[in-house]
Amino acid sequence: MSSKAQLEALFSSHGISLSLLDYLERYGDPTKLELQAQEVLRGVPIQYVVGNVDFYHANLEVNKNVLIPRFETEELCDKVIRILKTWKTDMLSIADIGTGSGCIAITMKQAFPKSEVIGIDISSEALEVAKRNGIRNHVDIIWKQGDLLQPLTGKYDCIISNPPYIDKNDSEVMESVRTYEPHIALFAEEEGFKNYHNILKEVKPYLKEQYLLAFEIGYQQKEHLETYAKEKFPNAKVWVEKDLSGKDRFLFILKK
Ligand SMILES: C[S@@+](CC[C@H](N)C(=O)[O-])C[C@H]1O[C@@H](n2cnc3c(N)ncnc32)[C@H](O)[C@@H]1O
Repeated sequence: MSSKAQLEALFSSHGISLSLLDYLERYGDPTKLELQAQEVLRGVPIQYVVGNVDFYHANLEVNKNVLIPRFETEELCDKVIRILKTWKTDMLSIADIGTGSGCIAITMKQAFPKSEVIGIDISSEALEVAKRNGIRNHVDIIWKQGDLLQPLTGKYDCIISNPPYIDKNDSEVMESVRTYEPHIALFAEEEGFKNYHNILKEVKPYLKEQYLLAFEIGYQQKEHLETYAKEKFPNAKVWVEKDLSGKDRFLFILKK
């Protein structure tokens, strides 16, 4: 059994920040501290090691079947909430395509409790996690398995998606991401654009008269996606916003 001092020395000798050890002590299982520390030393992302992560006003279970929700996605939710708050009603219909842990869907339902929110994922394993996260955070969401928009039936005020958008040949992907996070959540064909193309081509029948489409995008995808969206939605306002680190990260298409 290693003492705290021994674990600190081990982390330091591996060049791993001691703040990760503090995180383990705070959020991990105190009876498994040494085991969990070894996993962190092996490179397993700390959120998978402790099995949960905070996101906006929720705490979410995460495991190897779901992407670890990113800070940028909290920013996306925040921006969407601000735009939707200018709507005259809070009884909205909102869809989250590629819901993963359910982070976006759950945040929308927390922000607009009277709204109908649907979360869709192609992965049944991810959807199981999302369902548990809905229960864990006491929100009532419709969860459906399927390919992008295929499970949708009605018309929506708002459709949000953080789809897989990394080109398979992208050499910038961090080793720990490539090794531990689900590839179905990361990579997409057509140099990463496939899911955006498919959603933008097929989404119109699922939109109300006034609508907001909101996407998280790769920071090098702005030019193509802004042009593509303007072609598909000539009567809507189309724009891209940067994330807090100054990278082009969010695409919005708004018709009011
Ligand atoms: C980048 S992750 C985003 C997860 C979560 N929304 C978030 O922001 O953390 C993309 C998600 O889309 C799902 N996915 C991939 N291809 C899909 C498809 N064709 N239809 C629906 N979901 C898909 C993956 O299983 C994964 O959960």
